[in-house]
Amino acid sequence: MIVLGMESSAHTFGVGIVDDGEMLANEKAMYKIGTTGMIPGEVARFHAENAADVLGNALKKAGITPKEIEGVGYTMGPGLGPCLEVAELSAKTIAKKLEIPIVPVNHCAAHAEIARHFGKLSDPIMLYVSGGNSQILALEEKPHLHYSVLGETFDIGVGNMLDSFARKLKLKPAWGSSVEKHSQGGRYIELPYTVKGMDFSFTGLATRATELIGKEKVSDLCFSIQETAFSALCEATERAMLLKNKREIGICGGVAQNRKLKKMLKAMGEEHNARLGFAPDEFNADNGGMVAYLAERMIRSGIRSRLEDCGIRQRYRVDTARLG
Ligand code: FE2
Repeated sequence: MIVLGMESSAHTFGVGIVDDGEMLANEKAMYKIGTTGMIPGEVARFHAENAADVLGNALKKAGITPKEIEGVGYTMGPGLGPCLEVAELSAKTIAKKLEIPIVPVNHCAAHAEIARHFGKLSDPIMLYVSGGNSQILALEEKPHLHYSVLGETFDIGVGNMLDSFARKLKLKPAWGSSVEKHSQGGRYIELPYTVKGMDFSFTGLATRATELIGKEKVSDLCFSIQETAFSALCEATERAMLLKNKREIGICGGVAQNRKLKKMLKAMGEEHNARLGFAPDEFNADNGGMVAYLAERMIRSGIRSRLEDCGIRQRYRVDTARLG
């Protein structure tokens, strides 16, 4: 079944095409964030201007014509309202014109499911780490297939925390990978560490690290902020894994591109005979491929939405999203 997926929840406009789970295309255009961060209206305009080209590129890459598309999915949320609307309206137009099924997809579930697919994971504890989100997820079968949230950030996502710290250090974008690069050779400085059960918090850490800018070496600060935040994520993930008696760990979302975090999770897993799995970096960043992949699975399981029920939900929680 050929299914097209569209993503525009934040700075990326992405179009993916799958055929029976096989990724035929994963094309994108990314808005370049300046020092002011993202202004939703401006980013949405960027998406609208690039939508037709990205869609055309995806069809060309997949080697299909629009008429061969059998279903369409789009990111319903969570995300920035004006941005989400671009994929929503594009997907609705395609579904109406081609008279094919349409399904709204939860962005976080799409990240988790593409990691489960590429990481060859059946029933993992999934650490979802991105700019706006940081959660520990587990698959539940009842009353229908969905992810439950076992732990999450009390305040900001680990990605946004690292990005804003990097901006204060005046590092170059992409900020997350800049922090990782500058952490090389750093030594550990003690910073606030907050884990409560399986939840965690990063604002105290960010505030203290920011206070130390100019007083400590950049490499020491980058090393220590990563070490502290990632240790908190590993501790909470380990607790969730033991509680749920799982033997697989998944990591997904933009921060899953960080090699240090993956190394720390892998080492933690090895102590419990648990394997770590993840998707290639292209699918950890926001992308349309993951939306297409989950949309195909949802359509195959019989999930359908009426066009008039397809909207956006800026605060669409993953634990309310039905996957099958
Ligand atoms: Fe994302």
